[in-house]
Amino acid sequence: MTVLTFPEGFQWGTASASYQIEGAAFEDDRGLSIWDTFTHQPGRVYGGDNGDVACDHYHRMEQDVALMAELGHQIYRFSVSWSRVIPFGTGAVNEKGLDFYDRLVDTLLAHNIQPAVTLYHWDLPQALQDLGGWANRSIADAFAEYANLMYKRLGDRVTRWITLNEPIIFTMMGHRTGVLAPGIRDLGITAKTIHHALLAHGKAVQAFRASGVAGEIGITNANTSYEPADDSPETLRATELARDFDSRLFHGPVYGKGYPESVLRYYESRGAPLPAQAGDTEVIAAPTDFLGVNLYSRQRIEPDDGRGVGFRPARPALPLLPMGYEAAPHSLGDFVRWVTKEYNRPKIYITENGVCDNTEPVNGVIDDHVRMDLLRGFLAGLHGAIQDGADVRAYYQWSLYDNFEWAFGYSKRFGIVYTDFETLERIPKKSAALYSEIIRRNAVDA
Ligand code: NOJ
Repeated sequence: MTVLTFPEGFQWGTASASYQIEGAAFEDDRGLSIWDTFTHQPGRVYGGDNGDVACDHYHRMEQDVALMAELGHQIYRFSVSWSRVIPFGTGAVNEKGLDFYDRLVDTLLAHNIQPAVTLYHWDLPQALQDLGGWANRSIADAFAEYANLMYKRLGDRVTRWITLNEPIIFTMMGHRTGVLAPGIRDLGITAKTIHHALLAHGKAVQAFRASGVAGEIGITNANTSYEPADDSPETLRATELARDFDSRLFHGPVYGKGYPESVLRYYESRGAPLPAQAGDTEVIAAPTDFLGVNLYSRQRIEPDDGRGVGFRPARPALPLLPMGYEAAPHSLGDFVRWVTKEYNRPKIYITENGVCDNTEPVNGVIDDHVRMDLLRGFLAGLHGAIQDGADVRAYYQWSLYDNFEWAFGYSKRFGIVYTDFETLERIPKKSAALYSEIIRRNAVDA
């Protein structure tokens, strides 16, 4: 057994998102979000589940933070519900909503846990969706206005900010495949949402600099580690295309490299161009301080000329997790190495990594050994990437407890703590003890 020790000062914690845990959906003057609308439409979410109550974090926040402290958290990433603080997306502010995040931040700091705030984790105010949502260019200014409110309100205590969570997911799956809110399927709309999401990110970064708030800001993208299914030139080309349509689509513009040519061509040739205007490129490339990396798996890629994008996933070769993707712990280190090389060694925070493992309690014990094995494996890979020169400073495990997994409802469990969705009791799983020990030792056994 080898003990893999992380660099001194490496930070450990967990991540969450407002709609997935808060509940209290109709309390204290919170405005509706697209997820309230979506979950209440029949057939959208597995089992008809919704986030009306979720984990009731809104009412159990103090106990939840105490649990984080017990497990040894040094950092915690949460998102603000935009419609809780500005019920109609722009204009009137809701003091009761702001007060909740004030108290959350104070409670975290009282436990020596450093907060990281995600400004947008998919719960767009419904009032903005009614104006076209991310397809309407004016959303970029609305987002900057909201971001500014949060900088002013929490910026005296919060020093780590994330603009958007996984824009590739909320644009593509919300507007192309329609499996996430707002449930649209339209290529032209998708193209607009992609560009406006990036523009909103850039404007929020500029607003952060202008606010004078001390701290750092970055974006969190969703990532897959792409591997060629074989080493033929066609397959290698197809793998680069997969990286264009996924990784480079959102990283490229942020790092001043622009959109990948292949993606621009794809949208243009289908009459759905990305609606860039003069000056946008510079706004989007406003310098950031770190890159947030979310990663759960890998995908093997093979060529495909039939579908138009030129690549497709090859048949999985590793065991599948309940989410349908492969158990591939090496993918985290691999992706971190790739992104380090591609974008000139950015400072990286792993803003999400985790495992869906639906193990249920047996005599009160939740022996989630699949999660434990993969957690060790992911961290061993990450350690290797750091040894190879990647600048990774923090790791946020997804998630503290089982929560609302979007279109899967409550059927997919990602927590290191079990949530009993009848009683809302939280029961630490075996992985919670393991993670606690990793944090305490700043090391993992390989
Ligand atoms: C990505 C998303 O940011 C998060 O909301 C989701 O629950 C996890 N991955 C797990 O699928």
